[in-house]
Amino acid sequence: MIKKVCCIGAGYVGGPTMSVFADKCKDISFNVVDVNPDRIAAWNSKDLSKLPIFEPGLDEIVKRRRGKNLTFSTEVHKCISEADMIFISVNTPTKTSGIGAGQASDLKWVESCARQISEYAKGHTIVVEKSTLPVRTGEVIKAILESSQSSLNSKNKNTFDILSNPEFLAEGTAINDLENPDRVLIGGSNENAINALHDLYKKWVNEDKIIHTNLWSSELAKLTANAFLAQRVSSINSISALCEVTGADVREVSRAIGKDSRIGSKFLNVGPGFGGSCFKKDILNLVYLANHFGLPQVADFWESVVHLNSWNQNRLTNIILEKLFGTLTEKKIGILGFSFKANTNDTRESPAVQICKNLLNEGAYLKIHDPKVSKEQIDLDLGTPPIEDLKKNEVLVKKYKYKKWENSLLENDFFENLDAVIVLTEWEIYSKIEWEKVSKKMRSPGWVFDSRLIVDEERVKSSGLSFWRVGVGTVRRN
Ligand code: UDX
Ligand code: UDX
Repeated sequence: MIKKVCCIGAGYVGGPTMSVFADKCKDISFNVVDVNPDRIAAWNSKDLSKLPIFEPGLDEIVKRRRGKNLTFSTEVHKCISEADMIFISVNTPTKTSGIGAGQASDLKWVESCARQISEYAKGHTIVVEKSTLPVRTGEVIKAILESSQSSLNSKNKNTFDILSNPEFLAEGTAINDLENPDRVLIGGSNENAINALHDLYKKWVNEDKIIHTNLWSSELAKLTANAFLAQRVSSINSISALCEVTGADVREVSRAIGKDSRIGSKFLNVGPGFGGSCFKKDILNLVYLANHFGLPQVADFWESVVHLNSWNQNRLTNIILEKLFGTLTEKKIGILGFSFKANTNDTRESPAVQICKNLLNEGAYLKIHDPKVSKEQIDLDLGTPPIEDLKKNEVLVKKYKYKKWENSLLENDFFENLDAVIVLTEWEIYSKIEWEKVSKKMRSPGWVFDSRLIVDEERVKSSGLSFWRVGVGTVRRN
């Protein structure tokens, strides 16, 4: 019987996942630990609007369970030693140097977790991989855990089982995804360990949705799910470019193909390109694995999904440049949305980061608005030119010119003197902008670029602004 659960990593995955577990399994204690004291302090803050992660519904759950069967602390070793089950939920960024740089995941933190578990765990412990990991990482964890025990005599030996239980939550809908999952995947070889985790989930998930597989299938299924989803986004974005030049409308194409039940209607929204911490990293991981196992054709196939995504982000910059008479020097551009999608404050791999850098590099001055992303985060994302750019172009050292708009968008003069406004994230408020009013504040000829298809076309056009939107072509006669 599981009584105490520890989760290492209080991030976007660990925090919300353990909160929902605590809410559904009130007789078990869930202790989330993290090496970052600031993050833990934020999880413990009295003011629930200060939680480190913005996720609709999360604050209510934390309010209900924190201090009861949900704790956040930096006491990593203590919590490990007390736990029957430990979730590893630390980040696994793409390696930046060495073999596999730019593709393979850096597993240094996962390895460090395994070492700490091997040192501090007591008795029998079930170790659950929650982080997305390359296939066969379970083997590495197992080797580390077992090697530490080999020198002990059999009485003092601790034992471990390893499970893979990948997370399929999407940011912005994490709580709903956790409470009503399409499926729960548990990979492993030991029946008892699998059943122990199964028993936790079955408190709120219908058992026919809990799938058992071997460890490797579970690890690979997670990478594959993200790769397929990202591929859909690249697919529809590639078609949107074709729509623009042929006079087709990507919304009509999406609707038409989505009615085919084999294709399905979800995940067919065009945009500036996929972002978020997972898609690119997981595909590159798949690319690395395929190459590693001598399958370069498979690697090339998946890598093209990432290439198309980068191309799509740069395509938007080129269109803006072309429409604004080929130069952005000293032009004032309003950026609406900086997070990688709506309802999250996460900016990791957000297309806005690359697009803003491109525009700044062209000499534009940016006013950036986002309802949830902080000024500090934008400074982190845009403040320092990337190292590789510096090598190529020393000019980039000059201070980037941008400003985070801290006031309310609608009541204040965000639009004052803007030459163009670009919608990059589909926050609902951007679909309600009163273009008739704000157009009067903009410089003429003012442009609106809608990369998410959420702007009201009629309102923009009737206000005299020029309008470009993704995926909708004007019919050509030749
Ligand atoms: C997760 C998954 O774990 C990752 O595999 C997936 O691909 C993306 O999502 P996420 O929760 O989003 O990661 O990462 P992040 O928000 O960066 O949180 C990870 C936390 O782990 C950080 O707070 C970090 O301080 C903590 N950490 C890291 C530790 O506590 N110990 C370590 O050794 C390393
Ligand atoms: C994703 C997976 O959906 C989730 O199952 C996994 O556990 C983690 O990675 P997330 O990155 O939070 O979740 O967001 P998701 O909703 O999948 O969107 C990813 C990116 O694709 C966003 O930038 C989003 O704007 C973009 N997207 C998504 C589109 O451009 N069009 C779509 O139709 C859907």
